[in-house]
Amino acid sequence: MSETSPKLRAELDGIPTYKPGKPAAAGGPVAYKLSSNENPYPPLPGVMESAMAAAQNFNRYPDMACTGLMNELADRFGVPVTHLATGTGSVGVAQSLLQSTSGPGDEVIYAWRSFEAYPIITQISGAKSVQVPLTDGEVHDLDAMADAITDRTRLIFVCNPNNPTGTVVRRGELERFLDRVPSDVLVVLDEAYREFIRDADVPDGLEIYRDRPNVAVLRTFSKAYGLAGLRVGFAVAHEPVAAALRKTAVPFGVTQLAQDAAVASLRAEDELLGRVGSLVTERARVHHALVEQGWTVPETQANFVWLRLGERTLDFAAACEKAGVVVRPFAGEGVRVTIGECEANDVFLHTAETFHKSF
Ligand SMILES: Cc1ncc(COP(=O)(O)O)c(C=O)c1O
Repeated sequence: MSETSPKLRAELDGIPTYKPGKPAAAGGPVAYKLSSNENPYPPLPGVMESAMAAAQNFNRYPDMACTGLMNELADRFGVPVTHLATGTGSVGVAQSLLQSTSGPGDEVIYAWRSFEAYPIITQISGAKSVQVPLTDGEVHDLDAMADAITDRTRLIFVCNPNNPTGTVVRRGELERFLDRVPSDVLVVLDEAYREFIRDADVPDGLEIYRDRPNVAVLRTFSKAYGLAGLRVGFAVAHEPVAAALRKTAVPFGVTQLAQDAAVASLRAEDELLGRVGSLVTERARVHHALVEQGWTVPETQANFVWLRLGERTLDFAAACEKAGVVVRPFAGEGVRVTIGECEANDVFLHTAETFHKSF
């Protein structure tokens, strides 16, 4: 047998691995998962029925063009079907965006810390990551990001609200930034948490994209719509970007269960967005309580809060886990905690209070 292993692309060396949020411990007294920014509510009965009905036919391939879902999205968001592309979660669409724009020798700019998939999918594409530190207030430094643009820049991610800090960029600063970006560089507004925004100065990416052919908007059914496990997301972008995404998507990547559940979710939007409203109320309660306890917590417009704990990060995460809530630590930096059901938030708040007193 030969000793030589198959040649793999050098770009894959040293790629950071995606760390999924830890699952809640089984068998403990209470075990809440606040580590993956999921929706704590179970699927709506109508959505479940659509998915179950689709499951009857999973001996068949799904509709590769996602026709029903694309038409529903076009109606709901008032965009042409030709401006839409779907994928296996919005991270799947983000990967297609990179595949469509960037390769060896190219550069991809994004804030750091931001969504942890960006460095991974950028490295897979062969392009170089250019990470621009967040400001002291944990917000995108859009001036520095614009300054970082070179002839090699192909794509810029703006995560709004930012994962894991929950902070936002507002209309004026975003418009000024976009005015500085050359028209041949694609700006991706990653709006995975769009439905949780209550700050009226945060623009809807779908308004911004209309006049700007170099802007694409990423959305997902994983968060507000509660379909994380079904893996369906989409992009809204002008031609030829949207067409490139449809070309580079994994064929049949979105299952029929996911397509039908997504359509049912759009039709049940009132009820789903009512649930989002409850989570937003809980977010305000959690944020307020943390501030009262003495924590510095950035203003969040997403379904999570960010505590910059530095060296105490892992100790805090361990204390939470012991108390029955699993959070998402970023070692040496901080902890991201998803807003969950009231009881879960209470357990977290109680742990945070005890921990803060021990400083
Ligand atoms: C900012 C951001 N974008 C995209 C995603 C990807 O979500 P999905 O692939 O489930 O649509 C996430 C998930 O955590 C996220 O936080």
